[in-house]
Amino acid sequence: MTRKTYDQLRSARWMAPDDFRSFGHRSRTMQMGYGPQDWEGKPIIAIVNTWSDAQPCHMHFKDRVEWVKRGILQAGGFPMELPALSLSENFVKPTTMLYRNMLAMETEELLRSHPIDGAVLMGGCDKTTPGLTMGAVSMGVPFIYLPAGPMLRGNYAGQVLGSGTDSFKYWDERRAGTITKEEWQGIEGGIARSYGHCMTMGTASTMTAIAEGLGLTLPGASSIPAADANHQRMAAECGRRIVDMVWEDLTPDKIITEAAVRNAVTVAMATGCSTNAIIHLIAMARRAGIPLTLDDLDAIGHTTPVIANVRPTGKGYLMEDFFYAGGLRALMKVLGDKLDTSVITVTGKTLGEGLETARVFNDDVIRPIDNPVYHEGSLAVLRGNLAPDGAVIKPAACDPKFRVHAGRALVADSYDELKAIINDPDHPMTPDTVLVLRNAGPQGGPGMPEWGMIPMPQALLKKGHRDMVRLSDARMSGTSYGACILHVAPEAYVGGPLALLRTGDIVELDVPNRTLNMRVSDEELERRRAAWTPPAPRYGRGYGVMFTKHIMQADSGCDFDFLTTAYGPAVPEPAI
Ligand code: FES
Ligand code: MG
Repeated sequence: MTRKTYDQLRSARWMAPDDFRSFGHRSRTMQMGYGPQDWEGKPIIAIVNTWSDAQPCHMHFKDRVEWVKRGILQAGGFPMELPALSLSENFVKPTTMLYRNMLAMETEELLRSHPIDGAVLMGGCDKTTPGLTMGAVSMGVPFIYLPAGPMLRGNYAGQVLGSGTDSFKYWDERRAGTITKEEWQGIEGGIARSYGHCMTMGTASTMTAIAEGLGLTLPGASSIPAADANHQRMAAECGRRIVDMVWEDLTPDKIITEAAVRNAVTVAMATGCSTNAIIHLIAMARRAGIPLTLDDLDAIGHTTPVIANVRPTGKGYLMEDFFYAGGLRALMKVLGDKLDTSVITVTGKTLGEGLETARVFNDDVIRPIDNPVYHEGSLAVLRGNLAPDGAVIKPAACDPKFRVHAGRALVADSYDELKAIINDPDHPMTPDTVLVLRNAGPQGGPGMPEWGMIPMPQALLKKGHRDMVRLSDARMSGTSYGACILHVAPEAYVGGPLALLRTGDIVELDVPNRTLNMRVSDEELERRRAAWTPPAPRYGRGYGVMFTKHIMQADSGCDFDFLTTAYGPAVPEPAI
């Protein structure tokens, strides 16, 4: 393998020349207390850190970054920590999804504008994994993704609690009046007990698994709990490895190949996959120039069983159990020839070499292929006159009786309208009703908020019902469950057919046949379309204006059109 020489590094353009500009770069590095021995002949490694005081999932990054730096120094690199938008799923409103592309842009431009040869990306909370990796892929320098790791299992009154999933479950019980205020407060204090991302197989765990499936993490990195000392060692190892990746010029285009993307999709399906992963996978693949579609995802889903018995798709177990059972390496080992193990990962070796010593230690948590949690991948893509560009459902997480269903639509145009419906204990809906929320898509939300797991209406809860068919152009939390049809494309706000649906129309869902229709004639739909007026634009200034102008629909991964690889000529290196 040919190795780069120092004068071929990007950072050498800043640091090496005997000219006035480089004088400035060197003297200012010395202002920070460093000397020539810190940078001469060494790659500069960015650590893009998404720590902030508003990001509980990444609270440990303030410390963990020191371990990454330690590894970089050990391997003869020069670390440069660059903070980036922390995108806390809990605190950022209206939704982090409004800002995923902003983090991607920030990451790309941070790396481009600074004297950076390679990067360690520190993320984990839902949108940070796609945001960071999309940006770094577009920039093109070698990088390693260091996942935050899941938090410890939740615990209250002797019971294990799972992020998100149990909050939703107990909130329904609280609204049904079956748990007390004291019990509710106990759950509040017990459900998130340590730093780290959500420890169900929600969006965070799915996305870090996808990063590992793509080959963007060191082997096993995505399963290590945040509070486990293995995580410090992994952080240091990322620091050591990235320095060599720079010398080896192991750029992301050599890692994210079509085969690697197929591997990532297969891994996602086998984990029980958050519905959000569909959008991010499409966006990530397209940044690497691979035109992944909803149909590709559905096809791989058809032949990939869910073998991770982790909530919400699986029963009982959480990410901590998954780690003890062998983690993602063990899961990939079980997938066997469903994966192309000849692909190269950030290790510089093949995926297969990284799996050599992997073993399953508990085959109830990581199931054999012939005893899966669910016989096919956890996501299905639906199409029909309600969603010509597709919609998704997680059949494994919904009551089987709803997989083929027809019921009358009950339509809410906004979240406030929806709230009035679900909080009305005397609403005359039936268990067959299809509850619809629209104008909650990429433009309508805006940002496609996680409103798609519409809370069960009081009127049905009090009669003992815990699931019903719900339909929206929104997303839902990866920790959600229920018969929720999501990501309807095109969305209602831009005039997709969902905008034409009326309360009382029959909606037909057929998961085995992958269809989603409204029983309304084409002529009637034409009449309704002629009468439809587009809603007023949501933003008159600021980021929202750019978002509105450039955001693509869910089936295209909700990237900005101008950030896709095919858009315009390549961005030049900055003049120095
Ligand atoms: Fe950060 Fe769930 S809130 S991963
Ligand atoms: Mg989430």
